[in-house]
Amino acid sequence: MMTTPILHIEHLQKNFGKFQALKDVTFDVYPGEVFGFIGPNGAGKSTTIRTLLGILKASAGSATIFGQDVFKDAVSIHKRIAYVPGDVYLWPNLSGGEIIDLFLKLSGDKHSDKTDQLIKRFQLDPTKKARTYSKGNRQKVALIAAFSTEADFYIFDEPTSGLDPLNEEYFQKSVAELKKQGKAVLLSSHILSEVEKMCDRIGIIRDGQIVETGTLAEMRHLTRTVITFKTMDDTPELASLNGVHNVEDQPNGRQTFSVDTEQMPEVIDYLAQRQIVELQSTPPTLEDLFMRYYDTSEENIAEGK
Ligand SMILES: Nc1ncnc2c1ncn2[C@@H]1O[C@H](COP(=O)(O)OP(=O)(O)O)[C@@H](O)[C@H]1O
Ligand SMILES: [Mg+2]
Repeated sequence: MMTTPILHIEHLQKNFGKFQALKDVTFDVYPGEVFGFIGPNGAGKSTTIRTLLGILKASAGSATIFGQDVFKDAVSIHKRIAYVPGDVYLWPNLSGGEIIDLFLKLSGDKHSDKTDQLIKRFQLDPTKKARTYSKGNRQKVALIAAFSTEADFYIFDEPTSGLDPLNEEYFQKSVAELKKQGKAVLLSSHILSEVEKMCDRIGIIRDGQIVETGTLAEMRHLTRTVITFKTMDDTPELASLNGVHNVEDQPNGRQTFSVDTEQMPEVIDYLAQRQIVELQSTPPTLEDLFMRYYDTSEENIAEGK
């Protein structure tokens, strides 16, 4: 891509004493892009984000937002970013509405029509004291403030873990609106269906290291599609075809196998010549891709399963 990235991270490292929480984090986020940052608990997502916010100082490597150093230029960067953590702390004796306005004031914005629309959309009662709010309601307060902030880059660190499905959908809708406006979004998550639905590109982090970056389509290219089929004629050569794995008999004369994405055309061709009666193809989900990197058995990784 020729565009200048909003966020540029290169070989970022962070040590806590002897423990290396970030070993090598490298990725970019571009304008108009929703970047999904995924990995299980403890992989280093929040540490990366807290470094980007200038809360933590990197041990090595570099990170810039808008071309400015995230640690040295934090004050000027913060005027143009919005951030929502997964665990939102609110002043217990202020009402949700007061806190939203306070958040907006702190980021140099004002309560606007958009703020009112968002309060309606997320169905928050802004008159209640924050101490009465559930985790989901506390998240709503922070999300409403963030979405009504005029920023160029929005950072969400597992922001939807307390939201019900309906509010999760409102969250997705609000992010889609930001994207349409050409804003950049970094969304850290362990909810893969959310990332699969919303993100243009994805970075997978494991043990403080980015193990894969790309679009879902690019990642799928590395994996196998599962095919279930039934043909009129027998298919004795199937198991020996290039790229075909795990051929298994199923009830009712069906068979299943997995196939490397690259060999798919030849294999489908082979089946077509044996008169296909039924064919169902299941592309790998993000979950399959993810499990591939998190499956601890070394054989599976070596075999590319
Ligand atoms: N302040 C800290 N001091 C020591 N270890 C930390 C600190 N913050 C995070 N860690 C460790 O760094 C690793 C990454 O944590 P974190 O970035 O919170 O992961 P994630 O957000 O992906 O769940 C974990 O092993 C965590 O225990
Ligand atoms: Mg975290």
